Amino acid sequence: MKMGISQIKIMVTAGFFVVIFVSGYWLYREGQPFTERMITVHKLFSLGMIVYLVMAILGISKTAPLGQAELIACIVTGMLLLGAVITGGVLSAAKNLPPLAQALHKALPALSILSTAATLYLLYRRP
Ligand code: HEM
Repeated sequence: MKMGISQIKIMVTAGFFVVIFVSGYWLYREGQPFTERMITVHKLFSLGMIVYLVMAILGISKTAPLGQAELIACIVTGMLLLGAVITGGVLSAAKNLPPLAQALHKALPALSILSTAATLYLLYRRP
């Protein structure tokens, strides 16, 4: 039995990222006041992807526990995604967009996509 993450799950994750980045860039271009529907799409896909990834990783960690590198990759990715959610929450609640939150909400999504890709690669490579 294969113990790694499946190709289909990697593709679904990539699909989530496409929707998140397209809607995020849309929000950025549009500026305040943000369209409620676009924020909702952006938020739901962000949270949906996080739940999806947690479930996928819990699933494969049942077939064989995560190794040290895999565990560290999951924790780093989780923290970056959490940071993106927190700064995104600040931006959607703020009257005037705080420049620090705006800068962080560019850096953290970029870092989280790289970190997610590395994590999925590690999990895919499992025997
Ligand atoms: C669930 C909580 C989130 C909320 C409420 C949220 C909210 C927002 C808002 C309001 C903007 C527009 C920012 C601006 O005008 O500067 C934005 C942009 C963006 N968001 Fe989020 N976001 C969330 C989570 C995420 C996550 C998890 C990611 C990716 C991992 C992400 C990726 C992006 C990207 C790439 C942009 C475009 C940034 C730019 O080009 O300036 N967001 N988000």
